[in-house]
Amino acid sequence: MKHILVVGGTGMLADAVCELNNQGNKVTVIARGESKLEHLHSRCNNPDQFNSISLDYENYEQLQHVLQNDANKFGQIDCVIAWIQSNESKALGIIMNEITGTESFNVFHVLGSRSNLQEVKQGLNIPVNCKYHQVKLGFIVEHNTSRWLTNNEISSGVIRAYNSEEEISIVGTLEPWNMRP
Ligand SMILES: NC(=O)c1ccc[n+]([C@@H]2O[C@H](COP(=O)([O-])OP(=O)(O)OC[C@H]3O[C@@H](n4cnc5c(N)ncnc54)[C@H](OP(=O)(O)O)[C@@H]3O)[C@@H](O)[C@H]2O)c1
Repeated sequence: MKHILVVGGTGMLADAVCELNNQGNKVTVIARGESKLEHLHSRCNNPDQFNSISLDYENYEQLQHVLQNDANKFGQIDCVIAWIQSNESKALGIIMNEITGTESFNVFHVLGSRSNLQEVKQGLNIPVNCKYHQVKLGFIVEHNTSRWLTNNEISSGVIRAYNSEEEISIVGTLEPWNMRP
């Protein structure tokens, strides 16, 4: 049983949060909206193993405070799954920095189709005890046309990435790039 922190877990990653909780993991979710957090809590099979933190991750002082206090309700964090807006550059660094006390932990950084994985990684100061993984969201090509991934497909892809522990995972496809929706 692991303690997994899911940042931005009430939208497209909601199914992934439920799956991880249903598997018996302790899950802490960060998002701003309290009602969506409550709804997600009510969907989980192990509600006692669910910790919700209503917080704006762009409020760095509060983020730091919460990570030092409330996020430890279930003990040390073994894994972070982070869906953070691409224009937000500091929050993940703060999160990784605040859990460097643990022996080792995994980070699964979920990124949009257009993100430059190398640049994103280079822009982060990854602690030595962090195993950093990237999960890039693509699209689906079917019947000679294309569409974006559904939330359920995104959540399933993130769970696959989490289980495989690959350094880079693609959900859906990125080829042919000119067919993106
Ligand atoms: N294929 C692709 O490349 C790709 C890329 C991006 C998006 N998409 C699609 O676009 C849809 C919408 O994207 P979305 O970004 O709105 O994703 P979302 O997962 O639906 O919502 C973002 C999540 O992050 C939280 N959040 C946002 N800003 C936050 C902040 N400042 N502090 C704390 N938590 C915050 C939100 O909760 P609160 O708002 O309550 O804080 C929510 O849990 C997705 O469902 C996906 O299908 C596809």
